Amino acid sequence: MTINHNGKLFIETVGCQMNMLDSELVVGALRKEGYELTSDIREADTILFNTCSVREHAEHKIYSALGRLKYSKQTRPSQVIGVLGCMAQKDQELVFQRAPHVDMVVGTGQLAEVPKLIEAARERRERSLAVSLDRKEGTRLEVSDSFQSYDPLREPEMRPSPHQAFVRIMIGCDKFCTYCVVPMTRGPEQSRPPRDILHEVRVLADQGVKEVTLLGQTVNSYKVNQDGKQFRLSDLLESIHDVEGILRLKFVTNFPKDMTDDLLQAVRDLPKCAQYLHVPAQSGCNEMLKRMKRGYTIEDYREMFGRIRQTLPNASVSSDFIVGFCGETEEAHQKSLDVIRECRFKNSFIFKYSPRPGTKAYDLLIDDIPESVKKSRNQDMLTLQNQISAEDNAGFIGREVEVLVEGPSKSEVKRGDSSSATGPVQLTGRTTCDRIVVFNGNPRLAGSLTTVSVEDCTPTTLIGSIVTQQVQHGSSPLLPILM
Ligand code: SAH
Ligand code: SF4
Ligand code: F3S
Repeated sequence: MTINHNGKLFIETVGCQMNMLDSELVVGALRKEGYELTSDIREADTILFNTCSVREHAEHKIYSALGRLKYSKQTRPSQVIGVLGCMAQKDQELVFQRAPHVDMVVGTGQLAEVPKLIEAARERRERSLAVSLDRKEGTRLEVSDSFQSYDPLREPEMRPSPHQAFVRIMIGCDKFCTYCVVPMTRGPEQSRPPRDILHEVRVLADQGVKEVTLLGQTVNSYKVNQDGKQFRLSDLLESIHDVEGILRLKFVTNFPKDMTDDLLQAVRDLPKCAQYLHVPAQSGCNEMLKRMKRGYTIEDYREMFGRIRQTLPNASVSSDFIVGFCGETEEAHQKSLDVIRECRFKNSFIFKYSPRPGTKAYDLLIDDIPESVKKSRNQDMLTLQNQISAEDNAGFIGREVEVLVEGPSKSEVKRGDSSSATGPVQLTGRTTCDRIVVFNGNPRLAGSLTTVSVEDCTPTTLIGSIVTQQVQHGSSPLLPILM
């Protein structure tokens, strides 16, 4: 570490789980160099933004934050400001034009360079742009090589909880949905070798991780050719399943067309797999799906959904929807609502269409749905989804559920440090079907499986209390009485 800065690092992360993982890894690498994380931007000599371009709003948020730092270096001349991730890859030089006080712009495929580039910026006041090739700037292999999957050291403090970790199994996306920037910001689809993934899971398990979430933009498209045969996500789940210490396995996000029977059977047959699948439909109208170039019809989606129900009757399914996409009629919108009614998703993430420069929809289709209509369709859909979520959650009242305890709830964390508490505090965890459960208990239960009896609910949460295990002396063949 150089001497002329205070070593305090602030990082703001927006976007998806992939970005959260990238931030964890960048912070891990910088901690190794002596940096210390701070949540107060005013005391940091190193400020990083890990950015998202999926909707305009996410970009605005970062450009506004950068705007607020315009004069920050006047009082902190050794400060370094870096823009990382998807918006860095997408906007490149434009970031410097819009925010000249930025020192480094580092794309999703160059994150390993961050420590070196920070030093160059601080020592030599060198400005750097480190990005991958645009998709049309080289052959597929050249472009793929310019996006390096970044999976080095971990930083447990950046995780959602010490017992939960994300593991990337692939990078990039080749689906090219017409509205989406991800194939540009994350590059070509590339699956990581099973050996590397397995090693990472083992290391995490040794560190006390109980729940692993495998990440990929289309995670169920995972495939690697190994020994002349294809190794798929179902094979990967099977091999990870054997890792001792791991209690639960999840994977996001699934692409409807790649939801094959072998995967559903793996989720059915491997007890550690969460009974939960996130499979975005995006729309219930064939005309919209075609314009989005999703590659399936709503009949295909229904067929896939039927297979999920058949193989995994207790699994919950969640979805994403875009409202107000180009040319979406009221009738098309109603068809999306019909799909929600029919599939009864556990929850849906609903987004108003946001035109993104660089995408097919931006170039070729007109963003013709007024903002007020997008807003009201968004509200319609949310109301319907909330009603369904509330009804389905109410069905859990009176039942006992197995919960993987995550730790003290947000309200507990806000109230003060509960990690050292000995009495019961409000804890939070999830069922195998990914429903959030809150209940009172000892914070030391974090990372373990416990049974909770559900007494009440909201559309997003089940509320209950821990079931005290009753030991039936002598009656259980598993509990021999020791004389
Ligand atoms: N790879 C995932 C999702 C990636 S982006 C998948 O294919 O499902 C997360 C969600 O953002 C998408 O599912 C979509 O619903 C939404 N989204 C993507 N681009 C968008 C845009 N231009 N405007 C509004 N929502 C968008
Ligand atoms: Fe975007 Fe479509 Fe790829 Fe998902 S599948 S990341 S929505 S292009
Ligand atoms: Fe955003 Fe990039 Fe994720 S654009 S949604 S952070 S892959």
